Amino acid sequence: WTKAELRARLLAWYDANARALPWRVGPAERARGVRPDPYRVWLSEVMLQQTTVAVVRRYFARFTELWPRVEDLAAASEAQVMAEWAGLGYYARARNLHACARIVAEAGGRFPSTREGLEKLPGIGPYTAAAIAAIAHDAPEAVVDGNVERVMARLHAVEEPLPKAKPRLAAHAAALVSPHRPGDFAQAMMDLGATVCTPRAPACGRCPLAFACAARASGLARELPRRAAK
Ligand code: ADE
Repeated sequence: WTKAELRARLLAWYDANARALPWRVGPAERARGVRPDPYRVWLSEVMLQQTTVAVVRRYFARFTELWPRVEDLAAASEAQVMAEWAGLGYYARARNLHACARIVAEAGGRFPSTREGLEKLPGIGPYTAAAIAAIAHDAPEAVVDGNVERVMARLHAVEEPLPKAKPRLAAHAAALVSPHRPGDFAQAMMDLGATVCTPRAPACGRCPLAFACAARASGLARELPRRAAK
């Protein structure tokens, strides 16, 4: 198989199966040229750092209703933001969120468009910066979370256990990034890991990458990634 073929299969699968999430641009909007809103992408990625999609949906709806733009969030009091964050945990995230909103609003309301620029903001680490740059700005960044590590470990039948295998898995992910649709590619990988290439019972029968998957070929999909004994 070729990288171009693998990307094409994954993106076709995503076009048909993407989860409809409130911070994403749906197919109809995208056809009209609508781009994701960096503010909404940033807010969702910060919320998703340690929280599941199901829970984030509710909080995201509430935050964007109260504060539809970054300037609105910046103008809120810290106490108000902390109160709305209650239940999401990791409260440093909320303080950083508010500090970040103030910096961005102060600078004219536009988020930086590169990973490097985004990483300078409070609460935005390398993973979140890559995710925002890819999803909101179509920067060709690899976005590697636990889901994507699992997909890569299986696709390439990486036997080396986590966490040692992390750099290798990240390199595999970087080599695959779509130069044409990096944002959709990143989200397709996440969705694939979350809904098909799941930890215990991978649904290889409906996986768009099964044709290329080395773990599937050798009956190892369920076994990988391996994890070093603690
Ligand atoms: N987890 C973190 N970011 C995500 C996104 N953009 N879509 C789905 N799951 C995610």
